[in-house]
Amino acid sequence: MSKKILLGVTGGIACYKSVHLCRLMVKAGCDVRVIMTPAACSFVTPLTFQAITGNRVYTNEFEAGVEPEMIEHVHLAGWADDFIIAPATANIIAKIAHGIADDLLTSTVLPYKKPIRIAPSMNLDMYANPVTQKNLSLLASLGHDLIDPNTGEMACRTEGKGRMAEPEEIFDYVFCAEKPLAGLKVLVTAGATSEPIDPVRFISNRSSGKMGVAAARKAQSLGAEVTLVAGSVSVNLDGLNVVKVQTALEMLEAVKKEIESTDILVMAAAVADFRIAEYSDTKIKKTDENEMTIRLVKNPDILKEIAPLKKAGQVFAGFAAESDNLAANARKKLNEKNLDMIAANDISRSDIGFGTDENELTVFFRDREAVNTGKVPKEKAAETILLLAKEVHGKKNGSV
Ligand SMILES: Cc1cc2nc3c(=O)[nH]c(=O)nc-3n(C[C@H](O)[C@H](O)[C@H](O)COP(=O)(O)O)c2cc1C
Repeated sequence: MSKKILLGVTGGIACYKSVHLCRLMVKAGCDVRVIMTPAACSFVTPLTFQAITGNRVYTNEFEAGVEPEMIEHVHLAGWADDFIIAPATANIIAKIAHGIADDLLTSTVLPYKKPIRIAPSMNLDMYANPVTQKNLSLLASLGHDLIDPNTGEMACRTEGKGRMAEPEEIFDYVFCAEKPLAGLKVLVTAGATSEPIDPVRFISNRSSGKMGVAAARKAQSLGAEVTLVAGSVSVNLDGLNVVKVQTALEMLEAVKKEIESTDILVMAAAVADFRIAEYSDTKIKKTDENEMTIRLVKNPDILKEIAPLKKAGQVFAGFAAESDNLAANARKKLNEKNLDMIAANDISRSDIGFGTDENELTVFFRDREAVNTGKVPKEKAAETILLLAKEVHGKKNGSV
């Protein structure tokens, strides 16, 4: 490996991890140049990075005379094959999102022409702050490559999401990022369908769409061409190819339209079993009656409906939210819906599943042992499911 890497280091506690990341890259044969913000220099010294990289460390935009023939930030931006910012503070994320260039690092970001790998690192409340989330969405929509932070214990002695990904994870993400799903089309459904009663009311369910959206994002980062059919979701969809739907019938139509060209289908949406029998075009008025009856009719089961359209080489993966008899119920659905695999989660547990960031899934197959993902972030669970689906696809298509 002989890549020219620009490593931006900003002022967060995780600077010490960045030293290790830098070492991993140097050991792998990369030529690493480090740009540190003034705040980063309060956490670790430039000398540390200089000793590891064997290169001068860049800290000052206005330092005269070091390499007088070139303008540093423009030169560095053109020099690098890859640009990683780790740790990325809330501050640098905000600055990049808004085109601010007030130090050497941010001035180098603007002329850099490729996506930048950004590893956010901050306290859980800073990370969850809607402004930070908006800025991250903006960066994702601009095509930058966000390396999701981990959930866990923080330096500020709280626990939550915001810990920078481990150096090995960042290294693997950047350098070993095989694209195992390259060339495959993945169709994902996510979120809750909502079934209108009248123009202002509807029935729906508590699905946040996090699991399905995580699957769509992960499939994309693993190289697949992804279409996401999304009902109501509480997470950001920037950067994804999305078909928005409201009702189960609309979701069915969208899936039918896409299924022909799909290699792997991941049905993670929480589709309403019933819809309103008589939709009212006008808002239903309150009357003097003490009771009101709304008649429901059954919605089609999307997986059952599309089962006859399934081609030999396609892989259909479903989800089952179960509160009891997890294995028996999941296997029943696997067979009834002609699925290749089904990921079942235990919704009686409050620490995983609906609305949470973590999940523990047991994946059942037709002809192999079930696989348990352990309790992991939904992104990780999504990765496990996708890689298993890829294996099944390979088997079906004779490439394994
Ligand atoms: C002890 C300490 C730890 C900090 N850790 C973080 C952090 O992990 N993430 C973050 O976004 N900001 C953190 N900050 C705040 C940043 O250092 C501050 O916002 C600074 O302006 C960032 O500048 P920079 O983005 O130019 O490096 C920390 C500050 C202190 C004093």
